[in-house]
Amino acid sequence: MKTVLITGCSSGYGLEIARHFLAQGWCVIATMRTPRADLLPASDRLRLLALDVTKPDSIAAAIAAAGPIDVLVNNAGIGVVGAFEATSLDMAREVFETNTFGVMAMMQAVIPQFRQRRAGVIVNVTSSVTLAPMPLAGVYTASKTAITGLTGSLAFELAAFDVRVKLVEPGYAPTTRFAENGAARIQGLIPEAYVPFAGPIFAAFAQPAAVTTEQDVAKVVWQAANDTSERLRFAAGADAVALADAA
Ligand SMILES: NC(=O)c1ccc[n+]([C@@H]2O[C@H](COP(=O)([O-])OP(=O)(O)OC[C@H]3O[C@@H](n4cnc5c(N)ncnc54)[C@H](OP(=O)(O)O)[C@@H]3O)[C@@H](O)[C@H]2O)c1
Repeated sequence: MKTVLITGCSSGYGLEIARHFLAQGWCVIATMRTPRADLLPASDRLRLLALDVTKPDSIAAAIAAAGPIDVLVNNAGIGVVGAFEATSLDMAREVFETNTFGVMAMMQAVIPQFRQRRAGVIVNVTSSVTLAPMPLAGVYTASKTAITGLTGSLAFELAAFDVRVKLVEPGYAPTTRFAENGAARIQGLIPEAYVPFAGPIFAAFAQPAAVTTEQDVAKVVWQAANDTSERLRFAAGADAVALADAA
């Protein structure tokens, strides 16, 4: 029976990815900054571990407690929306600490065991913002695009050890806690001069032609984790697939 460790399982895509792998009969290590036993169905194949991907001690403790794993899903992430000139570098660093350095740290924590066993898969959840540029999302896009580049390079490097590395690029899901969790970060990031430009963009964002669901992402992460081809990129959700097809 295979074991997957997933980051950021307290809500949204991560919670549904954990549910999906459990339903497929896998052993699931669902990690959360603050573990909650009431979110996932009780199962002897489920373990909850505390993990904050920005804290080296937390990563080391979680990886030690997890034991050998077959798949790592780097899902944890935070968002920020706003005019670039108004986004402080402290804010940019905060976003990169989770979305970029957190993913790097998690990969460095599992690669040695995967390389030694000549097996293992890493699935990095980025975003459809890496498929086509969007205004007012520059810092978030930068944090995710760095992972796109890193993952492409690593896919070649780790193929030498039979370790696979995949990218899942979800579209916009209004139903996760993503916007709510980012709400405090975006205060004051649309200065007066940008209001006429930003207004129509936010209005269009509130009425998207197509969206992504948690189930879309969970199924595509599952597909990527089980994909034995050299395919790197997996768009998830109707809006993301449309962007990928147009790219
Ligand atoms: N929703 C969208 O429209 C969208 C679109 C494309 C890509 N994505 C990406 O999809 C992933 C999941 O997002 P979501 O929409 O499911 O949002 P969400 O509901 O806010 O879930 C994000 C998860 O990440 C966790 N997290 C945040 N910082 C963390 C840290 N330092 N260490 C460990 N866990 C941390 C959160 O935990 P806490 O509960 O502890 O905060 C939460 O479990 C993210 O990488 C996001 O960038 C989202």
